[in-house]
Amino acid sequence: MSEAKRLAGEKAIDFVEDDSIVGVGTGSTVAYFIDALARIKHRIRGAVSSSEQSTERLRGHGIEVIDLNHAGPLTLYVDGADECDPHKRLIKGGGAALTREKIIAEASAKFVCIVDPSKRVDVLGRFPLPIEVIPMARSLAAREILAATGGQPVWREGVVTDNGNWVLDVHGLSIVDPVALERELNQIPGVVSVGLFARRPADVVIVGGEPPTVL
Ligand code: 5RP
Repeated sequence: MSEAKRLAGEKAIDFVEDDSIVGVGTGSTVAYFIDALARIKHRIRGAVSSSEQSTERLRGHGIEVIDLNHAGPLTLYVDGADECDPHKRLIKGGGAALTREKIIAEASAKFVCIVDPSKRVDVLGRFPLPIEVIPMARSLAAREILAATGGQPVWREGVVTDNGNWVLDVHGLSIVDPVALERELNQIPGVVSVGLFARRPADVVIVGGEPPTVL
């Protein structure tokens, strides 16, 4: 699958505008995008990063990392996904970077999602849904998520997000109305963000292949 990820990541370069600040997601597919971005770094002003992991890779290539508060609205955000449905709604957060990813996606006019073919599904939920929670709310949030969804929340033990929080992965879901579920789960006290990107889905999905498919 890494070849498909590379092809998707490299194709996303077509969407980068000259003199822009580029929103950059997190993960192994995004790593290929960052490496390709490095080859045209003289054409951009810099990047807003969604994680310490991506920041390190961007800086390693000599790409300036800019605070979102200083960047203003972005024209483009490029990120991967764990699942993608036919409406370009996503499950994200396998890399525990979902909160910053969601913030940058919201700040961006265009969200280009880069995936390998295995990420495409008809109905979201086979991949356990990541939810970032404030540590003291872990048990409460888990009980309320179980009651609301019937899904089984599992604590991703040992993982601390870049924001100092914890992650619950909700197993056993079949998400027929992702917008409604995202809204409902966002109401639970202690939930920082939900790895459903349905209210703000991707605008473009690039599926890696020879050649890549642009949806
Ligand atoms: C990180 C994410 C990633 O985009 C998602 O996990 C996909 O990762 P990869 O490109 O490594 O398959 O949401 O929080």
